[in-house]
Amino acid sequence: MAAVVLVGAQWGDEGKGKLTDYLAEKADMVVRYQGGNNAGHTVVVGTEEYKLHLIPSGILYENKVCVIGNGVVIDPEILLQEIRALAKRTSKYGKLLMSTNAHVIMPYHRLLDQLQEKSLGSRKIGTTGRGIGPAYMDKTARTGIRVIDLMDAEVFAQKLKDNLEEKNKVLTKIYDEPPLEYERIYRQYQEYAEELRPYVTDTSLKISEYIRGEQKILFEGAQGTLLDLDHGTYPYVTSSHPIAGGACVGAGVGPTSIQRVLGVAKAYTTRVGEGPFPTELMDDVGERIRQNGREFGTTTGRPRRCGWFDTVIARYSARISGISDFAITKLDVLSGFESLKICTAYHYQGERIVEFPQSQKIFSNCEPIYEEIAGWQEDLTGIRHFKDLPATAKNYIQRLEELTGVPATIVTIGPEREQTLVRQEMF
Ligand code: IMP
Repeated sequence: MAAVVLVGAQWGDEGKGKLTDYLAEKADMVVRYQGGNNAGHTVVVGTEEYKLHLIPSGILYENKVCVIGNGVVIDPEILLQEIRALAKRTSKYGKLLMSTNAHVIMPYHRLLDQLQEKSLGSRKIGTTGRGIGPAYMDKTARTGIRVIDLMDAEVFAQKLKDNLEEKNKVLTKIYDEPPLEYERIYRQYQEYAEELRPYVTDTSLKISEYIRGEQKILFEGAQGTLLDLDHGTYPYVTSSHPIAGGACVGAGVGPTSIQRVLGVAKAYTTRVGEGPFPTELMDDVGERIRQNGREFGTTTGRPRRCGWFDTVIARYSARISGISDFAITKLDVLSGFESLKICTAYHYQGERIVEFPQSQKIFSNCEPIYEEIAGWQEDLTGIRHFKDLPATAKNYIQRLEELTGVPATIVTIGPEREQTLVRQEMF
């Protein structure tokens, strides 16, 4: 039995798609356990670039089973678009399964996401506007529509009617918007249901068969630790649980089935959306990282905020998710700097803080304490073995390991599959 959970150790966009793709080659099954099409993974296969939002990145291998677990919220329109786009470009892709218990994103979720953001004004979360938060709100309110409901025309009709009755009151009375029409949504979603039916199954049961059969399973987290609903920078978070524990709930597996947790962190830090970010660089160094790293959102195209590596955050993520190994991504982006900074702790009102603060008010006012370390001038993108990295680049990685207490088992130096320097295999 070998199960690995891959989690984002920062604010998402750590390069998880590439790592999933790498590990998926060795795995038999890849499982998404939370989030929805707020995520965006770019996978490069040869000269082809694939952008995936909902389907696990492992889908690009012909013989893999890719699971969308119960913890995911599914926008059927987006999922079908992805399935069709994939089928159009290649005949070689894996087998897709989706959980009966996953929740469905409805048109009113998307609408309410955008209206809520607008009404928050300067207090907005900076969501992706995909309806993720409102879909999870209905899930916890126990009024949501699950995939299994969508598959049953009678149940779906009733649930849609009940939901529209309430949502239309909110739309018209609170937001002064026109109501949504039942008939159109019903017909459209019934069409989606028929197209999606072949993929729908009890995915927890399927996963348990793989566990019993000693097959290799990769649980693929979307977003990152600091966007976790409970453990992230609340309220500037997403509405699901990207941390490793989220895999148990969101896929229907017990914690004893998981052996290793790979935390993915960029060699620097980025964030999209609003919220505190102590090591953010508002100067030309930040701009240089943004340009070098092509730091623009896969899902929304927004420029990402950029800053130095923050080991307070990395240590915190390691604690919350029980990270056994780090994958440090995009090390090549830091080439050409005379020196690099690593945040080791924060200053807050004259005090030195080494642990991630619980109060967002304190976190928002933390000043990073930096250690400066020599940079390297060499282009790293052609390197194929960790030992061949310039000594200063190896030092940088070693220092991150010392400060986080976690080995950097994998280092990536570019978007392609072969630009992955593996010091020890995860499976
Ligand atoms: P939501 O998930 O669309 O509700 O957005 C909530 C917060 O999470 C916003 O700050 C988004 O920018 C952020 N977010 C959601 N998905 C991702 C992602 O895949 N990468 C990075 N940030 C994300």
